[in-house]
Amino acid sequence: MAGKPKILITRRWPERVEARLAEDYRLTVNRADRPLDRAALAAALRDFDAVLPTVTDPMPAEIFDQPRLRARILANYGVGHSHIDIAAARARGIVVTNTPDVLSECTADLAMTLLLMAARRAGEGERELRAGRWAGWRPTHMIGTRVSGKTLGIIGFGRIGQAMAARARHGFGMRILVHNRSPVPAAILARHDAAEVARLEDLLPECDFVSLHCPGGGANRHLIDAGRLGLMKPSAFLVNTARGEVVHERALAQALQSGAIAGAGLDVYEDEPRVAAELLAAPNAVLLPHLGSATRETREAMGWRVAENLAAFFAGRPPRDRVA
Ligand code: DGY
Repeated sequence: MAGKPKILITRRWPERVEARLAEDYRLTVNRADRPLDRAALAAALRDFDAVLPTVTDPMPAEIFDQPRLRARILANYGVGHSHIDIAAARARGIVVTNTPDVLSECTADLAMTLLLMAARRAGEGERELRAGRWAGWRPTHMIGTRVSGKTLGIIGFGRIGQAMAARARHGFGMRILVHNRSPVPAAILARHDAAEVARLEDLLPECDFVSLHCPGGGANRHLIDAGRLGLMKPSAFLVNTARGEVVHERALAQALQSGAIAGAGLDVYEDEPRVAAELLAAPNAVLLPHLGSATRETREAMGWRVAENLAAFFAGRPPRDRVA
């Protein structure tokens, strides 16, 4: 390849990381910081050696169906990669990497934030106060649900699920139940006094809180649907910091409205950035705008991890976080 590789950042990144990438590569940044459309992403695959997408860049199979592609690596900024058709990328010989580990703690912090906010009605309380509707302290005011000592079901026990378990078990004395697609090593379960439950149908009725930490994509689409929401206790809460498509959003809105479950804390949605009107209208839903990894430290660390993957790739070494 003549000269430095040509790379594209599809959104604005932390300044320090952008500056470093500009030294090492011929860098183009989407300075408008609005999602690129399908045509622009397709053109990026023709024009750049590396494309550095985010969750806001859907890359379905069709986008790879072009006679000549220049891109040799998609170095994704984020751990989740269900927005990229990995099989189609692989079929065109394109390497895909992600950014695991560095966002686990902050994402688990946000899941715990949502759990606490939903249980303790923090969003409702803040809205009441700011609207000038708070009539003062009284014994029956805005009664929530105790968190400490309750049972938390964690679906998906990878790095983020384990970080959530650490907080819940060791910070809040919660009992931890786990459901994972492959068996979890006994030593990892023991670290959190966690018990594994093979069938989701057996886990859901046991839990006071259920937190989702599994990957998105086809296999887990609508994993939590009307039937499974119906297995949860009416007093239970659902937390989703994984991917929107894991939950059937309309069924969830219905469950919140009918009282089939007590509440939900959501950071991700089926059709981001659009949020279903039924959810916006549900007072027992705490809704955040996909903030899981949004701390200064983590967003920089994600950038450095992409830089590390790119450096390895262009030096002819296997990138550390190769997913395809
Ligand atoms: C992640 O890293 O998966 C975040 O959700 C942003 O994509």
